[in-house]
Amino acid sequence: MKCRKCGATAAINMRQHKLALCEEHFLEWMPEQTQRFVEKYRMFAPEDKILVAVSGGKDSLSLWDILHRLGYHADGLYIGLGIDGRRSSSEEGIGYSDESRRLSEKFAAERGLTLHVVEVEATYGATIPELAVISHRGRDKPCAVCGLNKRYIMNRAAHDGGYNVLATGHNLDDEVAVLMQNTLNWASGYLVRQAPVLEANRPGLARKVKPLCRFYEREMAAYAIVRGIEYIYDECPHAVGSTTLYYKEILNQLEEKRPGAKLQFYLSFLQAKEQGLFALQADDAELHACEKCGQPTSAPGECSFCRLWDKVRAVKGARLPLPALPTIEISD
Ligand code: AMP
Ligand code: FES
Ligand code: ZN
Ligand code: ZN
Repeated sequence: MKCRKCGATAAINMRQHKLALCEEHFLEWMPEQTQRFVEKYRMFAPEDKILVAVSGGKDSLSLWDILHRLGYHADGLYIGLGIDGRRSSSEEGIGYSDESRRLSEKFAAERGLTLHVVEVEATYGATIPELAVISHRGRDKPCAVCGLNKRYIMNRAAHDGGYNVLATGHNLDDEVAVLMQNTLNWASGYLVRQAPVLEANRPGLARKVKPLCRFYEREMAAYAIVRGIEYIYDECPHAVGSTTLYYKEILNQLEEKRPGAKLQFYLSFLQAKEQGLFALQADDAELHACEKCGQPTSAPGECSFCRLWDKVRAVKGARLPLPALPTIEISD
């Protein structure tokens, strides 16, 4: 297979685009495409202050690399979840979260980029797996409490740091797996919110963007490898056996038979939404400032993050007081 641009040996063949490229032209093509998506979905402009949520994985580190190459002002945020993943402390190597942090810090240091780190245990008093057990919300699978914490901390860090855009590394395979799950359940409330951009239509919320949402996972892996980005290969140990991974497998089987099926599914969904398919499901939940932390919430009184941690502190004792938080003004 030859590169379409220069005729050299191709490093990657993207069947859904009928496009094969050599390493050099693939490394050029990825930021060009990203810039196209950023403009098409009006994600951000050069004057925006972007916070990239980096997990130490191929997607988010590549995203940070691409945004940096494109000349955007983008700082990183790493959230330490306290996930070990080794069966015993005598097992070789370091735990999943520590390794993810090491690679994120290494990436930032090598490029002179700013990385903010929030360690959940040091800040709030327990690791995510401990939190799941103490709160009785996912003893075996801490993913739901983990997601709640990540969303809260990302939003909070963006707000407190004066960033108006929060970028995550979700790729097309991530988006399509979620889309399939939500479609099979006709979860219209989730479907209406699934988009490349979630506008910050309320004070205290950052605009959330997914600049990689049209790249296949294998393209992201190829980019990270060809670009020499060192990233954590392992999935989160708690993701093993998850529904998302199962849907990804099914979708890959479909893609094998029908190249482009994943992209087509996602793009037709976005188009159907643009044509008003979920118009009646407009997201108009009333938000107030949480009584404790000031972050926007639809729950009366305290937000679900504060309620969760109250419960944990009641059991464990406040190992550390909650940091003092500014209250966000929310006008009706
Ligand atoms: P996941 O939910 O693990 O599929 O990750 C989706 C996106 O969330 C990643 O591409 C990152 O942008 C972000 N993310 C996941 N884990 C972390 C973390 N520990 N710290 C900061 N951002 C994260
Ligand atoms: Fe949160 Fe796996 S990354 S439980
Ligand atoms: Zn070429
Ligand atoms: Zn709160």
